[in-house]
Amino acid sequence: ADKSVQVKLVLLGEAAVGKSSIVLRFVSNEFQANKEPTIGAAFLTQKCRLEDRVLRYEIWDTAGQERFHSLAPMYYRNAQAAVVVYDITKGSSLEKAKTWVKELQRQANPNIVIALVGNKVDLVQPSASSSSPATTPEPEDEADDATATPGEPSAGGEPESLRQVPREEAEAYAQEAGLLFFETSAKTGEGIVEIFTEIAKKIPIE
Ligand code: GTP
Ligand code: MG
Repeated sequence: ADKSVQVKLVLLGEAAVGKSSIVLRFVSNEFQANKEPTIGAAFLTQKCRLEDRVLRYEIWDTAGQERFHSLAPMYYRNAQAAVVVYDITKGSSLEKAKTWVKELQRQANPNIVIALVGNKVDLVQPSASSSSPATTPEPEDEADDATATPGEPSAGGEPESLRQVPREEAEAYAQEAGLLFFETSAKTGEGIVEIFTEIAKKIPIE
């Protein structure tokens, strides 16, 4: 008999925080530098092996663009787990994450396991395998900024300066709200599997 338990999981969060990239890393161990925005939602499955059992995640990767917000209840209804993602280099994305958590706590399954995930830590950490900072020049993305602020403060350009959300602040909020908490990089893979294994451990055995 198939002993794997099915677990319905939904990803929520502001556009471009990296929800689809987290799923792609978890399911295929891949990363795409220019991933296209999700339209509506995407559905994927992935098995997750714990010491004593195997779960099969049924993953709903929702679209973060505001015009899709009203679709979200269809995806979080009956979900046993939710991964609410923000981007540690964008403070407003944590505020959006908090509104998702509130909505889930009011309207989703009362036993839902929620994980708060701060993604893109690679942007603030020097790569361990290289002596140069892990920042890649992105001339096209910077074009708009360059016209407004000539002369980037490159001398004070420590990697940490890109961080807008202190880990301690988000972690304290997560604890207060009763959420699991992770910082991750879909780009390097850091912390990605942990999200899904720690959630799995909290799903009751049927
Ligand atoms: P929507 O589908 O529009 O809600 O966006 P999303 O949350 O699914 O974001 P997506 O995964 O499409 O990623 C948005 C952009 O961020 C893409 O260009 C990704 O390559 C990039 N990205 C995602 N995760 C990371 C990460 O951990 N580090 C870095 N440096 N870039 C990332
Ligand atoms: Mg997406």
